[in-house]
Amino acid sequence: MSAPKPTHLSDYRPPAYRATHTELTFDLDSHATRVKARLHLERHPERAQEDDLPLELKGAKLELSSIAIDGQALEPGEYQVDDKGLTVPKVPTRFHLDTEVVINPQANTALEGLYQSNGMFCTQCEAQGFRRITFYPDRPDVMATFSTTVVGDKASLPILLSNGNPVERGELPGGKHFVTWEDPFSKPSYLFALVAGDLEKVEDHFTTASGRDVTLQIWVEKQNLGKTDHAMASLKRAMRWDEETYGREYDLDLFMIVAVDDFNMGAMENKGLNIFNSAAVLTHPQTATDATFQRVEGVVAHEYFHNWSGNRVTCRDWFQLSLKEGFTVFRDQSFSADVNSAPVKRIEDVSFFRTAQFAEDAGPTAHPVRPDHYIEIGNFYTLTIYEKGAEVVRMLRHLLGWEAFRQGSDLYFSRFDGQAVTIEDFVGCMAEVSGLDLGQFMRWYSQAGTPEVDAHGEYDYANATYRLTLRQRTPATPGQPHKLPLHIPIRMGLVGTKSGEDLTLTLEGETLGRDAVIHLREEEQSFLFTEVAEAPTPSLLRGFSAPVKLYYPYERNELAFLLAEDSDGFNRWDAGQRLAMLAIDDLIAAHRNGVEKVMDVRLVDAFRSLLTTSMKDKAVLAQMLVLPSEAYIAEQQPVVDVDAIHAARTFVKQSLALALRDEFLAIYEANTSDAPYAPEPEQIGERSLKNVALGYLMAIEDEKAVELAERQFEAKHNMTDVRAALTLLTHSSRQDLADPALKAFAQKWASDPLVMDQWFTIQVTRPQPDVLDRVKFLMEHPAFSLKNPNRVRALIGAFAGQNRVNFHRLDGEGYKLLADVVIELNRLNPEIAARLVIPLTRWKRFDDTRQGLMKAELERIRQEDLSPNLYEIIEKALN
Ligand code: ARG
Ligand code: ZN
Repeated sequence: MSAPKPTHLSDYRPPAYRATHTELTFDLDSHATRVKARLHLERHPERAQEDDLPLELKGAKLELSSIAIDGQALEPGEYQVDDKGLTVPKVPTRFHLDTEVVINPQANTALEGLYQSNGMFCTQCEAQGFRRITFYPDRPDVMATFSTTVVGDKASLPILLSNGNPVERGELPGGKHFVTWEDPFSKPSYLFALVAGDLEKVEDHFTTASGRDVTLQIWVEKQNLGKTDHAMASLKRAMRWDEETYGREYDLDLFMIVAVDDFNMGAMENKGLNIFNSAAVLTHPQTATDATFQRVEGVVAHEYFHNWSGNRVTCRDWFQLSLKEGFTVFRDQSFSADVNSAPVKRIEDVSFFRTAQFAEDAGPTAHPVRPDHYIEIGNFYTLTIYEKGAEVVRMLRHLLGWEAFRQGSDLYFSRFDGQAVTIEDFVGCMAEVSGLDLGQFMRWYSQAGTPEVDAHGEYDYANATYRLTLRQRTPATPGQPHKLPLHIPIRMGLVGTKSGEDLTLTLEGETLGRDAVIHLREEEQSFLFTEVAEAPTPSLLRGFSAPVKLYYPYERNELAFLLAEDSDGFNRWDAGQRLAMLAIDDLIAAHRNGVEKVMDVRLVDAFRSLLTTSMKDKAVLAQMLVLPSEAYIAEQQPVVDVDAIHAARTFVKQSLALALRDEFLAIYEANTSDAPYAPEPEQIGERSLKNVALGYLMAIEDEKAVELAERQFEAKHNMTDVRAALTLLTHSSRQDLADPALKAFAQKWASDPLVMDQWFTIQVTRPQPDVLDRVKFLMEHPAFSLKNPNRVRALIGAFAGQNRVNFHRLDGEGYKLLADVVIELNRLNPEIAARLVIPLTRWKRFDDTRQGLMKAELERIRQEDLSPNLYEIIEKALN
């Protein structure tokens, strides 16, 4: 296969022809679905002056059976078809094109376009799946109204869905029936959706702010009917929130969600017909953990919010992906913060971001929030586009303040409604309403990598001034050796070391209050605070006000002080993380040098006061008690020493458990309520605190702890508690207890794939060295299938991503296993293969031996006939 070529942002041009209205008829069949399309096409006005432009439509894996223009069939010489699409050299300036193609949904294991999942038909068109359905100008700047007729066997496919409103239905000969759907809103092809199957619905209603009634439906397979309550409640909350917070109202009379078992991502915002991975919509107290309940709430909101940020206003081209994703993630994060505990939401998001997105920035696939070229857009649904994109929008919100930010958002939605636009259009609205110069700020979109900020402070007693000096640099990333300074908003306070109070900030004669945002724009900049009454400890980057690494040479007592006193909840947590990191660093060094490990008593003392002073928000306390993850610790090291990190972190955990056993036990016991399960913030906080405490107790495996874990597993109150207990038993040395528990669990849940996924994950994340055999054994389990992305993520993804000591075994067997799976998935599902391989691409971060082993596996993968997805990632990794 010849090397696939990149697409460049700078090559953007409007299409030669655009579709204004699209009529589709699907005659569904597992092996041979017939798709008739009538496209109403016209020359794009911006390209009216060019003569003789050929019509070029995208198409992949389509078998063309007929083609006509304005009712006139084309002769074979009048058009060409290749593996990329269809070309008709001579066409009128305005015409309609009729095509009929045959496609094979059953053979579609890539899960893009039209495919089958458990016998039901469904679609995934973003980014470029529509071209696997019919020949089309498959690009987001072509927006058309759609009218879709779905024909299927009435007995096996009683439900036939598409975007918009159903306008006609009826019976057809041969036991078939049909439904015609009309979507009055112009949309790009990536928002098209079709679902057909034996589905049941749960229905509810929502009255919009202007008093319109919207019917809400969640469609699932019959056995899942009892698992939709939380998604429905979340949807209604999200609809209300978007009205109240952003002034956005829903625009159709019907909003549908469908749960699908085989799905590459979390969910998809198709107009009026959101399609969800069943893992991101189904919940039940007995089958889903608190984390899943919260994820479902977030994803339901995310997809719903896309109706404005994505659908009504969409992207001009795929380089602008973060225009809709970054903004929508920011919106869903704000929603979750508002309806749950805001500080916990922020801590969770940042903790994940600093581990996973920083790692992406530090690896070979680093890219800006708006990349300037790609080979396969499917590879760009990344933490950088989504999460860093959201951080950039959050910085805009900080820079403008909420009022102006909301005005900018209103202007954006009204000015660009029904259009496909760019990131400049969005930021332009923010600049216009605020009068701010956001020119330098735009570098956040074009420059890849994690900026690093060094902070240094000096208090002058005689003059009562405090000078804060900040220096920024962004390390080189592939293709971007030199970086320019960014505009970085740093929210901060100066905490009086005696009083523990935030001191008033006066900068250049201006009083800023006790908590303020300062603007770092230069490579190095000094800020002189005056009238600083006492020596302060700086609290910097509060709330993680910018996606940067902030270094300040804190002493341990200063961190203990901030952990206890900082008025910013997020920075209290962060001070604890920094304190733990210092202790862990010492122990990593001790492990490497083979000297005795000694626990830092200051960390023990800090934890003791956390455990004994009552804290209102238990979920925040739970977060404060969680040590930095192995992955996060690894991010802080120049060369990752997998074993030393594991040993050091385990030692800290055990030392804390030994020193504070009674305190942890008291916390456990104070938080075991038997109130009926509810996914409410308070209960969730209690459960997480209790389970964190149990985790510490199980780290030393004393009899009492083991007994509590066993009892918690047996009590079966809810999946959160059951899973926590089963994980702790399975990860302990008590296999005599874990084995029967795992067996009982599997027997009970054999027919619930989402629960079996948890069963896989629990086992493959065991730290014990025999786990690799378990991984191989489980891959043969009847509940496992390489064709289902959830199974692959739960088993292979969890092993490679969460079991660091075993994935990085020194004999290379962990790497080999991953490469074997990636090679198989390259044929079955290229998008999943390209995601799964990522841990191997980070080889440069490890020691020479591991580097060699990882590279060898990448080279082995490279020998295969690679999909463009995998080709792009492997080339980046090996260059
Ligand atoms: N737009 C979807 C969402 O974030 C994700 C679609 C992903 N598609 C893909 N081919 N990776 O809500
Ligand atoms: Zn999205």
